[in-house]
Amino acid sequence: MSWKVVEILAAKTAKMMSKGDCRPTMRKIALLTSGGDAPGMNAAIRAVVRKANFHGVETIGISRGFAGLIDEDFRVLTTRDVSDIIQRGGTILRTARSLQFIEEEGQKKGLANLNKHGIEGLIVIGGNGSFRGASRLASMGFPTIGIPGTIDNDLACTDYTIGFDTTVNTVVDAINKIRDTATSHERVFVIEVMGREAGFIALSAGLAGGAESILIPEMGFDIEVVVGKIVRGHNRGKLHSIIIVAEGAGDVMEISREIRELTQLDVRVTILGHIQRGGSPTAFDRIMASRMGAKAVELLITGKSNRMVGIQSNKIVHYDIDYVLSQETNIDLEIYDLAGILAR
Ligand code: F6P
Repeated sequence: MSWKVVEILAAKTAKMMSKGDCRPTMRKIALLTSGGDAPGMNAAIRAVVRKANFHGVETIGISRGFAGLIDEDFRVLTTRDVSDIIQRGGTILRTARSLQFIEEEGQKKGLANLNKHGIEGLIVIGGNGSFRGASRLASMGFPTIGIPGTIDNDLACTDYTIGFDTTVNTVVDAINKIRDTATSHERVFVIEVMGREAGFIALSAGLAGGAESILIPEMGFDIEVVVGKIVRGHNRGKLHSIIIVAEGAGDVMEISREIRELTQLDVRVTILGHIQRGGSPTAFDRIMASRMGAKAVELLITGKSNRMVGIQSNKIVHYDIDYVLSQETNIDLEIYDLAGILAR
């Protein structure tokens, strides 16, 4: 069968299906990625474009987030344009943190550009800052849906954000490697991980990587307790110590200096940095991003606005974006305590 025939059949099926439970109220939607990139964003982009196409809706890709919205950096995305990207990290749409869109003037310009191009709805993939922009557009009467895409996992109303699982796996891989050299040299390693003001990456990676102490902003820490654990381990014949520090928990150089002074052990610091944001997404992130992307289209074309798609107990859910932004994210105390008990 030729590709042409396959495409005609697919279009026919899409037309039939769209008459079912998901009748589109719009013909043209747009999509952007904003804030820090996260592995799995491409899988979400692919899902949005293909799900929209399935319902006969055209997708416009906006480059460089809200900055591209203001600059009118628009292009049509076909199902072929999103081939071969499900396995790629980063975002083919590129991303930015737009200061201009925080201002009312930038928001009005963005809205005018959407209207000018006959775009009827927008999907925003990003984190907290991006959702504030999405909420602004929705309050100006423009239908907008959010998909949580950030390695930090710091959004309420969803168990996971796109990219978090891949990042945790990247960090665990790094811990495994650092542990090898830490053991050989009988050293203490203090490893800084990302997460902005949240400790989710540190906590998950610390538990999975068998870290001795996990320092996160949500819990605070006492350096004497950290040092006490290291010394007890050392006296029991432990050859290395791994301390995971979330970037929001404190100055990693200062922490390592104190540990060195108080233990007289050989201490090294590794700041993992942006390596945590790259790489091929895990199957978990790809599957979740695909489900979230499809749901976002469904919500948008059936007339919903200002909703964030999320996942809770493996079910796709959606919440009001302003409600999401008003809620605190809490770390799981059971996991925190467990990590402490097991790191002996
Ligand atoms: O929000 C994702 C994140 O990677 C944070 O963990 C980190 O604090 C921040 O972005 C770094 O941002 P940038 O790449 O702009 O330096």
